[in-house]
Amino acid sequence: MTNTALQERPVQIGDPGVGSRVLSGIMPTGDLHIGNYLGAILNWTRMQHEHESYFCIVNLHAITTPQDPAELREKTREVAALYIAAGIDPKVSRIFVQSHVHNHAELAWILNCLTPLGWLERMTQFKEKARGERERASAGLFTYPVLQASDILLYGGTPPRPLYVPVGDDQKQHVELTRDAAERFNRLYGEVLSPPEPLIPKRGARIMGLDAPDRKMSKSEKGQYHGIRLLDTPEVIRKKISRAVTDPGQEIRFDLARPGLYNLLTIYELFSGQDHEQIERNFTGQGYAALKKELTEVVSEGLRPLQERYKAVRDEPGYLESVLAEGAERAHEESARVLGEVKRAMGLG
Ligand code: AMP
Ligand code: TRP
Repeated sequence: MTNTALQERPVQIGDPGVGSRVLSGIMPTGDLHIGNYLGAILNWTRMQHEHESYFCIVNLHAITTPQDPAELREKTREVAALYIAAGIDPKVSRIFVQSHVHNHAELAWILNCLTPLGWLERMTQFKEKARGERERASAGLFTYPVLQASDILLYGGTPPRPLYVPVGDDQKQHVELTRDAAERFNRLYGEVLSPPEPLIPKRGARIMGLDAPDRKMSKSEKGQYHGIRLLDTPEVIRKKISRAVTDPGQEIRFDLARPGLYNLLTIYELFSGQDHEQIERNFTGQGYAALKKELTEVVSEGLRPLQERYKAVRDEPGYLESVLAEGAERAHEESARVLGEVKRAMGLG
């Protein structure tokens, strides 16, 4: 993004270490929203310059719930184009589609055989997604975190090295399971896998729904005024913000007891690059109307360069295909090394 405030914020990471790696991914289901952007993608754009980075579009995760084939294909390309539009540079990072690199499915099978059911039973995302439909939920939905562990562990390098996974707050548990899986594997078969660390931004790790500040902004929520999509027009953004749920009280300040207002101010903070004091000072003596007006401006302007780049990426014939083909080749090469070590260590290779 050309919005410098968004770019200049310091990356919250530990010591990058030698030859450190980054991997993350998003499912090509629903429409990407500012929660995905502020909680995950924005951090990727910063980290790619400090670590060897891999960003995938996790379409094998998408099929853990039913998908329309044509829509899945289109969404996969849309998400890839959005990665690039948001500032993931294909010359710097590898961008690829999960199903193009079969090593992910292969390692997932192996790790499935090593993962205790008890670990999976504890995963809150499964409980939420299966929601009382346990009998009908797919086996894939249940072992979803094992496929995610495979996505991550395949890029931990040989020999193992620091491995970071920049995600929003809701993915912490899955990355911790990945860490447990790596440690368990290493205890049983020797030091092959890199236990990863989740990197969760201090601000923006959990953007809430505009219509329901007690629920995380989510791709699967159907409400028309729930989330701001990365490809929403300024007019749609204005409508959504103007209808955003707020709390009683006049004063515009960061107050956790007023979750609707707090969420709007957090979005404002991240898009404007201003700190709390500055923001509270700007809005002294003003009310929600002023905040909503300014917020609309700052979000629309912040997303404009991304939307322009998105259009350019989609309009350039063959460009996306070539990025994804190159990404898959590089990802295959790298992941084959770790998978080879895993298979050798277990007597499979
Ligand atoms: P998902 O939309 O569940 O596929 O998530 C893709 C990435 O965006 C993951 O790293 C999530 O943790 C992150 N993410 C999803 N929703 C939010 C949100 N409301 N706030 C912050 N990060 C989010
Ligand atoms: N489970 C993640 C989500 O719902 C998506 C995902 C799949 C992922 N594989 C990953 C995230 C590997 C980080 C690393 O958002």
